[in-house]
Amino acid sequence: MRRIGLFVGSVVLLVGISVAQSAFETALLQRARTAADALFSRLLQRLNAEYQQGGAERGVKVCSQVAQVLTQQVGREHGVQIRRVSLKNRNPRNAPDAWERQVLLRWERGLREGKPITEVAEWRTERGQRVFRYMRPIRIIAPVCLECHGTQIKPEVLRLIRERYPNDKARGYRMGDLRGAFSVKIIPTEVQR
Ligand code: HEC
Repeated sequence: MRRIGLFVGSVVLLVGISVAQSAFETALLQRARTAADALFSRLLQRLNAEYQQGGAERGVKVCSQVAQVLTQQVGREHGVQIRRVSLKNRNPRNAPDAWERQVLLRWERGLREGKPITEVAEWRTERGQRVFRYMRPIRIIAPVCLECHGTQIKPEVLRLIRERYPNDKARGYRMGDLRGAFSVKIIPTEVQR
């Protein structure tokens, strides 16, 4: 049932795109979704494991070393460019580009107006090249997120965060807030049809 839901969703999603939907587009969308799923579970699994062993302190230490590495790995495995972005990013490498910023702002407006927010897929032209872009919201879904992104972070955890991320903006969140997004870019000429 879930699969059918996703398929119908993807047809609706791609109607807005000027090109008629093809099997190729459906495959790109599926690839983007699978990569986002994979990154989500890989990061969460690792965070969980470290947290079990040494709480948020250990979480920050390990996360700051491996988050980017795991992200690159998932990108390679799925043949996409993937990253996480946020309007209030912790790592400077997770700052959004113009299109990502626009989508994040639209989602924030949607949330304020009580509307559901959902994934977005679009063809864009970047430096003369057609690229397939995809974003999926990341919300503050569990109380554990607040230990490192909330309003009352333990001093020891905060010290470790500040040490590693002097320009950190990723604090002050509450449950349900939009934290950021998975963002996937696929350059079709690099994909085997
Ligand atoms: C143990 C501390 C810790 C916990 C718990 C934690 N995070 Fe993070 N989070 C970090 C660190 C450190 C980074 C920066 C990682 C990097 O260098 O890319 C980060 C980065 C992020 C980013 C990328 C954007 C940015 O700000 O750079 C998102 C999105 C994010 N976290 C969401 C979450 C969500 C959702 C949860 C709860 C499921 C969560 N985090 C729980 C420490 C934590």
